[in-house]
Amino acid sequence: MHRKLVVGNWKMNGSIAQLGELPAIAEAAREAAGVDVAICPPFTLIAPAVTRGGGLPIGGQDCHAADSGAHTGCISAAMLKEAGARLVIIGHSERRAEQQESDAAVRAKAAAALSEGLQTIVCVGESEAEREAGRAVAVVTAQLAGSLPDPEAEAELVIAYEPIWAIGTGKVATPDDVAEMHAAIRAHLVDTFGDQGARLRILYGGSVKADNAAELFAVRDVDGALVGGASLTAAQFVPIIEAAG
Ligand code: G3P
Repeated sequence: MHRKLVVGNWKMNGSIAQLGELPAIAEAAREAAGVDVAICPPFTLIAPAVTRGGGLPIGGQDCHAADSGAHTGCISAAMLKEAGARLVIIGHSERRAEQQESDAAVRAKAAAALSEGLQTIVCVGESEAEREAGRAVAVVTAQLAGSLPDPEAEAELVIAYEPIWAIGTGKVATPDDVAEMHAAIRAHLVDTFGDQGARLRILYGGSVKADNAAELFAVRDVDGALVGGASLTAAQFVPIIEAAG
């Protein structure tokens, strides 16, 4: 059994005013003794979220693989850290699709984040067509093989399984599908990294809500959740934290 990790991914949502949700989330995180909780807001809100977040770990949603240089519009892992971030999400399917991020790019970014000491959440997941073609496990396994850096680092590597068809759609993978995929991910991690692979946490993401969280958290090898829409308010996010406790 791993300690559960529940992370809110605000995507391109939020505002200074919305940071007012954080103290109640931080309070729930303190009360859920066995659960780690974090929020990843847009870059511009990281520093103010650190100040106003009541001690809640705050993270970014991407970083560049390079330390610095001529990369207009990009942010390095060191910059995230300087802003107060303690974690980062890498290779989210929205970035893989909208910014054409390849597995190799994801791996390089994740390696940079780990070497800066950021807890690094690498996302993988299949499309609906890939699942319908019976290729879900093969697709995710190939993404893991191409995207994961060596986890031997001071910082923690975390995997998030997010079936693309379940993101923001209200469709949730069945517990059986989640169990099958998380078992396949665990097997890949152990084959690749040995004992270290057994220790890595595997999160589920895709339409996690208060009313389905407990069922998902009960599935073997579901070590927490990466939550989009339902992490934007304390009213929706706190029950998910409580379900993980
Ligand atoms: O990273 C979290 C995410 O992609 C899931 O989003 O809104 O379906 O919870 P949502």
